[in-house]
Amino acid sequence: MPPILLPPPSLLRVASASSPSGADSVCDRLGPGLCCCYSMAGQGFFQDIFDGEAFKYYADGEWKVSSSRASVSITNPSTLKTQFKVQACTQDEVNKAIESAESAQKLWAKTPLWKRAEALHKFAGILKDQKNAIADVLVKEIAKPLKDAVTEVVRSGDLVSYSAEEGIRLLAEGKFLVSDSFPGNGRNKYCLASKIPIGVVLAIPPFNYPINLAVSKIAPALIAGNAVVLKPPTQGAVAALHIVHCIHLAGFPKGLVAAITGKGSEIGDLLTMHPGINCISFTGGDTGIAISRKAGMIPLQMELGGKDCCIVLEDADLELAANNVIKGGYSYSGQRCTAIKVICVMESVAEELVQKIVQRISKLKVGMPEDNCDITPVVSQSSANFIQGLVEDAQKKGAKFHQEWKREGNLIWPILIDHVTPDMRIAWEEPFGPVIPVIRIKTVEEGIHHCNANNFALQGCIFTKDINKAILISNAMESGTIQINAAPARGPDHFPFQGLRDSGIGSQGITNSIIMMTKTKSTVINLPVESYTMG
Ligand code: G3P
Repeated sequence: MPPILLPPPSLLRVASASSPSGADSVCDRLGPGLCCCYSMAGQGFFQDIFDGEAFKYYADGEWKVSSSRASVSITNPSTLKTQFKVQACTQDEVNKAIESAESAQKLWAKTPLWKRAEALHKFAGILKDQKNAIADVLVKEIAKPLKDAVTEVVRSGDLVSYSAEEGIRLLAEGKFLVSDSFPGNGRNKYCLASKIPIGVVLAIPPFNYPINLAVSKIAPALIAGNAVVLKPPTQGAVAALHIVHCIHLAGFPKGLVAAITGKGSEIGDLLTMHPGINCISFTGGDTGIAISRKAGMIPLQMELGGKDCCIVLEDADLELAANNVIKGGYSYSGQRCTAIKVICVMESVAEELVQKIVQRISKLKVGMPEDNCDITPVVSQSSANFIQGLVEDAQKKGAKFHQEWKREGNLIWPILIDHVTPDMRIAWEEPFGPVIPVIRIKTVEEGIHHCNANNFALQGCIFTKDINKAILISNAMESGTIQINAAPARGPDHFPFQGLRDSGIGSQGITNSIIMMTKTKSTVINLPVESYTMG
């Protein structure tokens, strides 16, 4: 592929005006082939991260080209063409990046908390200023609808700022204990306990929220005094590199943050088993289970997907339920771990609910992310093939369809699969696509059983007007979070967010992430005697 000779900024500025999002991106000018995408906002804001052929990796405070001279291609899910390339970093480059993160962290840990918070607020401001350019990358890299892409960037800036303030609140205080509160002790030992940084955090976000789920790891780690090594997903890597440039420009110490791109087969084990990594925060699929088996004695924070069950009772507000199924089940084409992934509806109201959902599905706009369509191409051909496999299995086993199956490339038209039975794969597996199965139940217990019989246990939701019943059912559903009269959702980002069983380890949400990325240090003062005797 010949290197792209970039037009002079003045010409590029003209080109950037053509970008659909009004973003300062030159993607459109250079066409759907290998496109270099960097913002022209403020004179080529992101041009340092691009070498004309591939986006660079970031280590030791600099944007670098890998000595491997190899790159990893990123396919645009909408065009099925190579959109970007990123470096295929070598193992030596991984080692060097972790080494400089370790030494930078020692200084960062000594940086006053208020200064750490100040740097994060600066990062948040830069990130939000660049929302259009970064959203443009999300549109091309993961086919996220433009409006959702902009929202993700703004939400991420808010998450960074909230992390800064929550970190000050949490880490400003420690614990003071005296010994005589425990039987057999006098008051001659004073214990001062406080939270200190854990060291170097390996952050591995997923493709579907490469900005928000990156900063949901990076910001808590940094405010807690840690260093961060970011290993972005292949699709989503360029978006993630854009946020790292915002971190770079916010003036964090050299080496404190690194962003390593490359083939998981070449550097995955080195990263996750590296002795210089003191904590791993991973969001994604069952790769997380393999990581948890290899990582060794370090804290792990993982979220590995869900099969969020929506139970609809006879007294439910069916308009509300149908609206939430659309919003919670089909947004971003169902590619959300918290998406509604199965509906268990009491059979007496099932027909009415199904018709309401079908009517709303017919109004969903299907097409390209640049046009802000509701349903856009799923992230890859393999994902689209997997979804199709689940649908065909249900068809073969007698499920009822309210829409024709339609697929063009990675673009799958939304469908509702009715009269699903437990022998169908779609009843249990996570499609991560715009397809939702409906199971008609005779008792609430059937719905609770279906929720609890699944290996996943991320979120779920209940629609009923009886709040007492809702709370009792929530208590019986063994998922990390149950939403009452609303669709599952991770946000707002300061709420605790956790998956149980195969859905994850530990708990996220800003507060829990900060705490999990620290360790406790105790200093005990031993007095010679228990009390001072006068005279
Ligand atoms: O799939 C990632 C998960 O975090 C979804 O987030 O805010 O869309 O519920 P949200």
